[in-house]
Amino acid sequence: MNDAIVQEYGPLARDIHEVVISEAEIRQRVAEIGKAISTDYSGKCPVLVGVLKGVLFLMADLLRVINIPVEVDFLAVSSYSAEARNKGMVRLVKDLEIPIYGRHVLFVEDVIDTGLTLNYLLSSLRERQPASLEVCVLFNKPAHRLLEIPLRYKGFDLPDRFVVGYGLDLRERYRNLPFIGLLNAEAIKNHDHLSECS
Ligand code: PRP
Repeated sequence: MNDAIVQEYGPLARDIHEVVISEAEIRQRVAEIGKAISTDYSGKCPVLVGVLKGVLFLMADLLRVINIPVEVDFLAVSSYSAEARNKGMVRLVKDLEIPIYGRHVLFVEDVIDTGLTLNYLLSSLRERQPASLEVCVLFNKPAHRLLEIPLRYKGFDLPDRFVVGYGLDLRERYRNLPFIGLLNAEAIKNHDHLSECS
C-alpha cells in the first residue's frame, strides 16, 4: 500500500500503486482544452456529446471551463456479443435527445483504446448530418489502436498499463479517484471481490 496516496485520497486509493497523471495535471490540461474549444467555436453553440459512463467526470469539468454557450447530451451503449464488440459494434441503449442535424458537434470521450467504439459512434452521428463533427479525447491509449481517428483535442497519452480514475474503472470501481493511477497487481488479480458493494 502506498501510504502517502492513501493519506491524501482516502481508502479508495489503497489499491493504487502509483499516480500516473495527477489531479493538478488533469485540471490544467482540461482548462487548456476548454480554452481552445471556447476560441475555436467562438460565435457558435456546439453540442457536446458524451458516451456514459466514464466521460461524466471529464464532461462536467470541461463544461465548467468552456466560456461560450454550449449544449450537452449523452449516449449510452451496451455491447452485443464479444464478436460484435470486436468490430466495435455497440447497441445504443440511450440515444441523444438533441437533434444534431446542422449542428456543430464535439464528441467528448474519456478514453480511446482500439478506436472501434468511437469509429462506430462517429459513423452513426455522421448519418445525422451535423454541420461539423470533431473529437475531444482526454486519455489516449495508443498501444492497442486498430483504427486511426483524427483527434481535434487530446489530453494525455496513457501507458499500456491498467490504470483507473477520473472516469476509468475496474468493474465500476475507482472511477471517482480524481487522478489517473496505476492499480497494483494484487488488486487486478483479486478484482472479483469488487462485486460486493453494500
Ligand atoms: C470506454 C470509452 C469508450 C471505449 C473506448 O468505455 O468510454 O467508449 O471504452 O474503447 P475502444 O477505443 O477500445 O473502443 P467503457 O467500455 O470502458 O465504458 P464506461 O465508459 O462505462 O466505463
